[in-house]
Amino acid sequence: MRSFINGSVGTIVGETSPIEFRFLISRMIGNGTYVKAKADGKDWVLARVENLRRSNTAFSINQFNGSDNKRAGREIVLAEARVMGVGGNGRLHLPTTPVRPGDPVFLADDKLIKTALGLSKGELYIGQLRGYNICVELDANTLVQKHCSVLAKTGSGKSYTAAVILEELLEKDVALLIIDPHGEYISMKEPNREGDFAKFNLKPRGYDVVVYTPTDMATNLRADRPFRFYGLNLSARELAKMIPPENGSGQIGLLYETISALSAEIDPYSLEDIIDQVVRSNSKVKWNLVGHLESLLELGLYSSSETPLDELLRPGRASVMDMTGIIPELQAMIVAKLLTEIFEARKRQLISPGMLVIEEAHNYIPERGTGNAASTNIIRTIAAEGRKFGLGLMVISQRPARVDKNVLSQCNTQIIMRVTNPNDLKALSKGLEGMTIELEEEIKSLPPGIAMLVSNEIERPITVDVRARKSKHGGVSTPIISDKNSSAFDRLEAARTNSNSLKWPKIEYKSGGSLLRKIFGVGKI
Ligand SMILES: Nc1ncnc2c1ncn2[C@@H]1O[C@H](COP(=O)(O)OP(=O)(O)OP(=O)(O)O)[C@@H](O)[C@H]1O
Ligand SMILES: [Mg+2]
Repeated sequence: MRSFINGSVGTIVGETSPIEFRFLISRMIGNGTYVKAKADGKDWVLARVENLRRSNTAFSINQFNGSDNKRAGREIVLAEARVMGVGGNGRLHLPTTPVRPGDPVFLADDKLIKTALGLSKGELYIGQLRGYNICVELDANTLVQKHCSVLAKTGSGKSYTAAVILEELLEKDVALLIIDPHGEYISMKEPNREGDFAKFNLKPRGYDVVVYTPTDMATNLRADRPFRFYGLNLSARELAKMIPPENGSGQIGLLYETISALSAEIDPYSLEDIIDQVVRSNSKVKWNLVGHLESLLELGLYSSSETPLDELLRPGRASVMDMTGIIPELQAMIVAKLLTEIFEARKRQLISPGMLVIEEAHNYIPERGTGNAASTNIIRTIAAEGRKFGLGLMVISQRPARVDKNVLSQCNTQIIMRVTNPNDLKALSKGLEGMTIELEEEIKSLPPGIAMLVSNEIERPITVDVRARKSKHGGVSTPIISDKNSSAFDRLEAARTNSNSLKWPKIEYKSGGSLLRKIFGVGKI
């Protein structure tokens, strides 16, 4: 007959080490439970159950005699616990000595978990520690200044979780600019009508959201305003950035020649003037160039009255750049130009600080060898230097392995939801300190709405039951053609290789403040 100390959940058995121990449980507990045991009879060691193994002596492989009497043998449940640290002084550090076999193990109390893990140091409420009524609050400073990533397979709740964080940031008067390939964040305008508001102690509400479209307003009926670049006296260098590089030096040369001649004749000249001038040339490649330029004209992206950049970053407002209806390669070019202008304006403090949110980031910052995008360089620069100039970054992707490692490695807060693809898991493991086989297994089986949070502010990776959204969720499934995991970019690549029918840049018509000043220590205009 085993004897257990009153109130304990088990007894430490076998060999122990400063980082892990096993205990025989006396009361059933689940995976992920936080427990405590005394280190050398003094401070409490906080540990997390990461595996449970159940066995029965009558049913061991060597002794099984065909009987189906489960009471005949002795059933034991062995818990494997990973040491989080010694939380005696409110700050975790790993113990220098292992816990003692034979000592009792207790359930950790909420206070110990909260203080030891550092869960209540921030002001952004993102949910509750899984299995507990403990609020998880992130530090706004760290999140914005040191960037953030949200990574998980499709349908696991990335956009939902990202929106929860964005809601919290808007309530703290942070300015947001969201690059939104599918217009998912438009619904943040409206209050949520469904969700467990009581559990998370929330009230539904909508937010100040302005939706921009780089195409014409008739093409994107959900947009509030058009987004326009300044389109008079465009330099050849500027315009060449909007023409795919594989179109050869012939077209680019013709563009330089044309604009050089035009600028001597007309002031100001428009995109139409450039096209007229190209048409008059004798070059063999002129019609290809005219095709590109006309598509840009048709898109309506250039205008004599451009969108002021300071309008895009307003404290407490989310500007959504809805990319619906624009082919991916052109999206990346628009993002490259837009973010370059934002970065330059921010360097000169002409616009408010803010957070840039990149949805489907694998399309805008593909990892080397998985694709090219015009926006890669500027996003890398912002990831490396944005902090100095008051620009934070949030990158969201369903394919961690396909997102630029340089950018991911700059994200100090990582929110990981369910990931099953081995390459993606490998990419995640490489970038995470303290990743164990058990945590990897846990990531593979996270249910929707549960996130693993890794942050400098929180002592160890934790799992969070993400709170309900206050605003309406507008998530849409990523459009799928043949391959579930293929991105729009992959499909573009495939279409290019397989047929000549896809012309560039043909438009796919519609198918369907104050805290920041504290955070960055920089002045608002
Ligand atoms: N914390 C949560 N609480 C309640 N429901 C959630 C939560 N997280 C996700 N969901 C539900 O899961 C569904 C998928 O979530 P979401 O759209 O965020 O997935 P995703 O990972 O962004 O998918 P995709 O890769 O297709 O963009 C949503 O429709 C939402 O209702
Ligand atoms: Mg999504």
